[in-house]
Amino acid sequence: MFPPHLSRLLLALVSAFVVLAALAVPPAQAAEPTLGELAAAKGRYFGSATDNPELTDAPYVAILGSEFNSITPGNSLKWEATEPQRGQFTFAKGDEVVALGQRNGQMVRGHTLVWHSQLPDWVSNGGFPAAELRSILRNHVTTVASHYKGKVAHWDVVNEPFNEDGTFRDSVFYRTLGESYIADALRAARAADPGAKLYINDYNTDGLGAKSDGMYNLVKSLKAQGVPIDGVGFQGHLALQYGFPNRMQENLQRFADLGVDVAITELDIRMILPADATKLATQATWYSDVTKACLAVSRCVGITVWDYTDKYSWIPGVFPGEGAALPYDENLRPKPAYAALRTALGGKPGDPTSCKVAYKVASQWNTGFTGSVTITNTGSGAINGWNLKFSFPGDQKVTHGWNAGWAQSGAAVTATNASWNGTLAAGASTTIGFNGSYTGTNTAPGAFTLNDQNCTAG
Ligand code: G3I
Repeated sequence: MFPPHLSRLLLALVSAFVVLAALAVPPAQAAEPTLGELAAAKGRYFGSATDNPELTDAPYVAILGSEFNSITPGNSLKWEATEPQRGQFTFAKGDEVVALGQRNGQMVRGHTLVWHSQLPDWVSNGGFPAAELRSILRNHVTTVASHYKGKVAHWDVVNEPFNEDGTFRDSVFYRTLGESYIADALRAARAADPGAKLYINDYNTDGLGAKSDGMYNLVKSLKAQGVPIDGVGFQGHLALQYGFPNRMQENLQRFADLGVDVAITELDIRMILPADATKLATQATWYSDVTKACLAVSRCVGITVWDYTDKYSWIPGVFPGEGAALPYDENLRPKPAYAALRTALGGKPGDPTSCKVAYKVASQWNTGFTGSVTITNTGSGAINGWNLKFSFPGDQKVTHGWNAGWAQSGAAVTATNASWNGTLAAGASTTIGFNGSYTGTNTAPGAFTLNDQNCTAG
């Protein structure tokens, strides 16, 4: 037994050693900023469209929530979704996406209040006289914009009003009401939600040309009349085979000079399939060039991709034989375009989803099983210290684990590297394991993060 003063000294020395030992554990790798964070550092947003059926895909939803700081419902705020029958409004699907954005702390872009497409038959073929159609239009805009008051930051109030030659498109609204339907829609939207920024949005207006001249003249005239218009959306549906938009930055700037914000609202860059390394490299350059054009215009407030993964792109369905248009491939792996976007936004090309996790049930009995989890560093740099997180879909419980420190809270599991497998060189793997209990079906978790960055599952 030591005398008391020596015991105290010994305790102090042991405590100091424990603290020093804890400090010596390599710190978890600092997370690379996301596209949204990089854009925010430049006073912009970087967003993605999404759609309700995709929201059951957990790995997809994880990236949607972490990588982007703005979200746009790709279909669920359109007229056919929100007022399928006259006076009968349905907001369930729109609400689902808006609530998801709010939970993620994302800005919501509302798309769209007045459009000739995805317009229910009762409007397009209703044969309404002008006064009645005007009141139908005002009522629609007012009801939808009021429902989302304070929740939708930007509204595409009018979508695609132009023909390719810059004349007005012959929609039921233009045919019946003339171009005044645009001012009417904007005024109704402003009255319903004075805080929302009101946009007109179109495609093939990204560069200088007849169609963007049409838009330019419209915005100029609306401003002159004092009609509420805050921004112009340039959809940015580009195709490698048709060339980059003509003098895009100059085009964005001339709109900004009219006193409106500008935004790239539906960016995707398609190619004729199959994709190959050359086309993907050109695509990456285009993503970068669009981003640079936006950043060079102080009133260019942000960029939205029209969904972020080739898995959910609208293109193959509409242009057979074309696709591969988005920065992530069909397996949610970042493409060269992703690194190009990061670099253009002032970040490192670093790939935050540079990990792969293979989860296997190695054996299973009545109420127990052995799980094996192989973590691979698929990035280009070493990982120094890691924690792996996933959630069990059922009531599985880790009872005993090895090759990592295991902790579980509810369904959420965290595995922290052991001292000897904390460093994972580029391309290296480590396999960790556990015994667990379960009842019912032993469904595997579908989404994994390493140091809070999404990993590919599989
Ligand atoms: O909901 C039905 C489903 O019940 C049915 O089984 C299925 C069978 O085809 O169709 C589903 O509807 C589809 C809808 O997307 C929802 O997935 C429509 O067929 C399909 O035409 C519709 O496509 C949308 C397209 O607008 C319509 O024009 C795309 O998802 C959407 O991304 C796209 O977005 C437009 C922007 O709003 C405006 N700018 C161009 C952009 C690309 O076309």
